[in-house]
Amino acid sequence: AGALRGVVALDGPSGTGKTTVARMLAAELGAGFLDTGAMYRVVALSALREGVDLADADAVAALARRVQVGIGTDPGQSRVLLDGDDVAEQIRTEPVNVAVSPVSAVPEVRRLLVAGQREIIASVLGSAGGIVVDGRDIGTVVAPDAPLKVFLTASAEVRAARRTAQDSAAGRQADTEAVLASVRRRDELDTTRATSPLRAADDAEVLDTSELTIDQVVAALSELAKRRGLLG
Ligand code: DC
Repeated sequence: AGALRGVVALDGPSGTGKTTVARMLAAELGAGFLDTGAMYRVVALSALREGVDLADADAVAALARRVQVGIGTDPGQSRVLLDGDDVAEQIRTEPVNVAVSPVSAVPEVRRLLVAGQREIIASVLGSAGGIVVDGRDIGTVVAPDAPLKVFLTASAEVRAARRTAQDSAAGRQADTEAVLASVRRRDELDTTRATSPLRAADDAEVLDTSELTIDQVVAALSELAKRRGLLG
């Protein structure tokens, strides 16, 4: 396959393998990779560290204006920075999993991060020529002109099982029932929030990954990009 030109917008709920798929696809197609969820997680981590009341939208917005969110776009090396410190591991902990939903529901947080995401995308398009962007609102808000939008889905049970396996592999104790409840709670919050609720763009390809391996999903996306004429 040739190198990707343009933006691939990859949206969907957690547990669809979205971030892994996005990174692998970007590496395969010689493109940049942007994990927008990591940016919301950095703000959530900072809010937890500073003891900001997550129910206080003004306080969360003020914090978001203060913190410096740094994010790498190299699919071979993930870099996530909070005020210059690498927090790639700290943003994957359960307290952050919980805090990130209310944080990402604050309109000012979204406004600030979306602006940052658009700058990063423009910069990578200028250098590498192509970028795979993973999130919830990429096809609907961040990059509505993306030439390929894919919405990945999977049943809540499959997504919970995947997260349980991930947690165990990372040495964290995982309770399947609790994880399923957490997946459902986050789906509910993410799809019903007032600002940029999680939904597929009208022109998105919807791909159910419940019965697919990561490699099969990557292959399907690569094929879609090829058919759209995005591989130079
Ligand atoms: O993809 P993830 O699990 O790292 O996302 C973490 C949270 O951030 C999730 O609750 C949804 C939110 N998010 C968002 O609102 N918009 C994005 N573009 C990416 C993530």
